[in-house]
Amino acid sequence: MRFVVAAGYGGPEQLVVREGELPAPGPGRVQVEVRAAGVNPFDAKVYSGAMGADEARLPLRLGVEAAGVVTAVGDGAAGPAGPVGVGDEVIVHPVSGGYASALDVPATSVVPKPATLSWEQAAGLSLIGVTAYHLLEATGVGAGDTVLVHGVAGGVGLSTAQLAIARGAAVVGTAAEHRHEALRGHGVVPVVYGDGLADRVRAAAPAGIDAALDTVGTDEAVDVSLALAPLDRIASVAAFDRGDTGIKLLGAGPGGDPGTDIRRRARLEVAALAGRGELEVVVAGTFPLDRVADAHRLVLGGHAGGKVVLLP
Ligand SMILES: NC(=O)c1ccc[n+]([C@@H]2O[C@H](COP(=O)([O-])OP(=O)(O)OC[C@H]3O[C@@H](n4cnc5c(N)ncnc54)[C@H](OP(=O)(O)O)[C@@H]3O)[C@@H](O)[C@H]2O)c1
Repeated sequence: MRFVVAAGYGGPEQLVVREGELPAPGPGRVQVEVRAAGVNPFDAKVYSGAMGADEARLPLRLGVEAAGVVTAVGDGAAGPAGPVGVGDEVIVHPVSGGYASALDVPATSVVPKPATLSWEQAAGLSLIGVTAYHLLEATGVGAGDTVLVHGVAGGVGLSTAQLAIARGAAVVGTAAEHRHEALRGHGVVPVVYGDGLADRVRAAAPAGIDAALDTVGTDEAVDVSLALAPLDRIASVAAFDRGDTGIKLLGAGPGGDPGTDIRRRARLEVAALAGRGELEVVVAGTFPLDRVADAHRLVLGGHAGGKVVLLP
């Protein structure tokens, strides 16, 4: 099998493809032939040095999600949806080292891939979907709420908006102007980020903002949220340097609530919503494993406009 590692800490130039062998799966484990692997900004943070640069941990395997076909199963292999068998089409998440042509993972990490999703969509669905779910649960978003989503054209942002709308909420979201037409198609009221944002949001939501969800992490996103929404209904998955404000920080950053149980439980529901077309995964670009560095450059640009996916 082929897999990607970061050989050192730094930028995408550190990413290289290596070759290895997978063992036959042990009890409770499954082997998956990977058809597509999702790329996330988190993967680049892992080898950037921002989360520590311990040389002893090198080389680093990367990738938290993938999709593929089960090729072998160990005794008693069962996931959240029941027993797993050879030939099953599955989504793998969470996983450590998903950028690979084949994986050996606990069966508890796989859920059935909805037949209506492409491999690319299935590979890119889980992290953004469960993170969006966590944002809504942490702030109690439900029918009748008007929700502000910062970065609504991004992977997490658009998932958050779609899940909120599926719950009966209205969504105002920040995005670059050229994304607005597509966002309206998803039922979002878009506003441009930048100077004067609070006034534009007030104009778009005259009855007020009930909850503010940040997927960008800028001071602007946090400060506008604090100005417009009640503190106990503001959450961020990116502004880990603004914990002093009292907003809820979600995920693996410093001071964040990892939400491990809620996110694991959310996987089946997120897959079901995507399978029914209530959660669309927009794919911005695909790259072969050998061009993983280019895939990361696109993600690091911060404006990919959807999921970036590797095809091993
Ligand atoms: N804590 C967690 O559990 C967790 C989980 C997943 C992701 N994350 C983090 O969440 C963030 C978003 O992830 P993603 O996968 O959604 O990334 P993404 O798909 O690359 O989306 C990034 C979005 O940010 C927007 N943006 C860029 N600069 C902006 C600015 N100055 N003001 C407002 N919006 C701006 C872009 O909008 P335009 O294209 O419209 O400019 C784009 O929609 C990343 O920092 C990621 O590490 C955290």
